[in-house]
Amino acid sequence: MTEPVTNSPEGELEGKPTSASRITLSHIMTAGDTNLLGTVHGGVIMKLVDDAAGAVAGRHSGGPAVTASMDEMAFLEPVRIGDLVHVRSQVNWTGRSSMEVGVRVLAERWNESSPAQQVGSAYLVFAAVDEQGKPRRVPPVIPETERDKRRYQEAQIRRTHRLARRRAIMELRERRAAEGLDDA
Ligand SMILES: CC(C)(COP(=O)(O)OP(=O)(O)OC[C@H]1O[C@@H](n2cnc3c(N)ncnc32)[C@H](O)[C@@H]1OP(=O)(O)O)[C@@H](O)C(=O)NCCC(=O)NCCS
Repeated sequence: MTEPVTNSPEGELEGKPTSASRITLSHIMTAGDTNLLGTVHGGVIMKLVDDAAGAVAGRHSGGPAVTASMDEMAFLEPVRIGDLVHVRSQVNWTGRSSMEVGVRVLAERWNESSPAQQVGSAYLVFAAVDEQGKPRRVPPVIPETERDKRRYQEAQIRRTHRLARRRAIMELRERRAAEGLDDA
């Protein structure tokens, strides 16, 4: 935990609609992207997910934003060489200095007109930072559609669970330290 977030100490910043920062990043998978099984390496997809989410977080917050955590990265189907991958990303929820960004990954053959299939999804938390790397305030996101509103509500549930899990682990560590248990 740092000192209070910098920038705009009084009042809220003006809200920004979800659509203002939503993006799709598209990329064709080539031989350099494969794992030892010949399908696309999960890390390649994760990099695209982080890139797309980072662009959204930067656009929404109007400046630099860093990845604080990535959770619930799900790989639903293998991605192959020659797949055109689309990484769709939007801000689901905003706190004071953090934003949850939701990402859907879709893939289609680069030379076929069949519909793209969802192959993965992820939720990332970004913190907006100032020049010193200190958290700064972000504008509240304004969910526009019913889908945006559902995503906002689901993000709040994930936020509650993240904080509870973090607190529980810290308490466990403090209890163990108080009992003199040293696992270093
Ligand atoms: C993310 C970072 C700025 C947070 O700094 P901090 O000193 O812990 O600041 P705070 O505790 O005030 O957290 C700032 C916000 O981020 C959230 N946050 C911090 N760590 C988090 C985590 N692991 N998961 C989810 N949210 C997190 C906080 O809840 C807070 O949100 P809020 O202001 O909306 O309530 C800092 O840990 C950092 O710079 N990490 C490195 C980031 C980085 O380099 N990423 C790229 C990896 S290569």
